Amino acid sequence: MSQKQYNVKFPKKVFSGKGSIEELKGIVSMTGASSVCLMTDPGVAGCGLAKLPLSVLEGSGARVTVIDDVPREPSVYDVQDTYRKLKDDAVDLIVAIGGGSVIDMAKIMSVAMTNESLIEDLRAEGAITEPSLPMAAIPTTSGTGAEATANAIFLYPEEDLKVGIVHEYMIPDFVILDVSVTCGLPPALTASTGVDALCHAVESYISVLSNPFCELFSLKAVQLICRSIERAYSDGNDLEAREDMQLGSFYAGLCLTTSSTVAVHALSYPLGGKYHIPHGVSNAVLLPYVMEANLECCREQFTTLAPYMIQGIEEVPEEQWPQKVVDYLYELMKKLDIPDSLTGFGVKPEDLDYLTDNAVKVERLLLKNPKKLTKEEIKNIYKRLL
Ligand SMILES: [Fe+2]
Repeated sequence: MSQKQYNVKFPKKVFSGKGSIEELKGIVSMTGASSVCLMTDPGVAGCGLAKLPLSVLEGSGARVTVIDDVPREPSVYDVQDTYRKLKDDAVDLIVAIGGGSVIDMAKIMSVAMTNESLIEDLRAEGAITEPSLPMAAIPTTSGTGAEATANAIFLYPEEDLKVGIVHEYMIPDFVILDVSVTCGLPPALTASTGVDALCHAVESYISVLSNPFCELFSLKAVQLICRSIERAYSDGNDLEAREDMQLGSFYAGLCLTTSSTVAVHALSYPLGGKYHIPHGVSNAVLLPYVMEANLECCREQFTTLAPYMIQGIEEVPEEQWPQKVVDYLYELMKKLDIPDSLTGFGVKPEDLDYLTDNAVKVERLLLKNPKKLTKEEIKNIYKRLL
């Protein structure tokens, strides 16, 4: 049997545990930084979460520039604006505290500052040649896994399109998993970002690119997320559940660096670009439907996943486990109040062809789905949601 080839890419240092934000001081001295940019968004800044990292950074003796206006779905123009604000500051370390958008912005800035031409055209082939500035990510949501991955997503408004920029220089050098900064995440965001992380874990596990490294982290991520997502949703201050979600999301992000997402994320793209449905929400809406479509091709994988996902599954005959995985996902979305229709987001039956045509274009992910989904099958999935 031939061995699958895969590369493992990893952040250089991961600090975990309550209070680990204090490690920022050590990061400043480790990198020798004298000018630091602390990047966040108005929501995180507004609820005071940026205060602690700011005071630790200021206490380190470095000069600190704060950018606190990263929008929720940054566009390519927001990237250019942020670059203009930073370029004259001789910044030599970027620290991001926030969700996926903030971390994505920090990642692209870390390479834009050393690869100036990138800012003219983020999609230009070969524009990233120089290593990035050192960057630290402090995730406040548990979902995107942006703190572990090499990609960043930006909106091209004229094209109604979200585009992923990928380069291994964009993997954050330092990750700080401090559970205390995730407690303020509202229930609806806890649910949708948490299911996004579950999608990363499950999709990368069934992807044709799955490999032993990915399997290790995806099974653990599924276990952590499934045992805690309902608790984190119903009680945001349940620290144990929050810790599971944070670690599960990070592990699921690591899976993406060696494997890939598949059809859930592919079908999600047109929903994000045109209808501006948040990434986690569109993935959560799609997840059970796409897994049901994959069921016959994934009986073996779903059988392995079942005990990590469903408590007490051992009492059910093993041949029923794959179907139980699909049933569990439908039930979980109900419990988390994830909508089972797209109509509430302004998607209409006459949009079916637009959605299908644009999903089919996401070949990059569809080709990694274990089942080759036909155009008709993709259309049917959207149809069931209208
Ligand atoms: Fe995602």
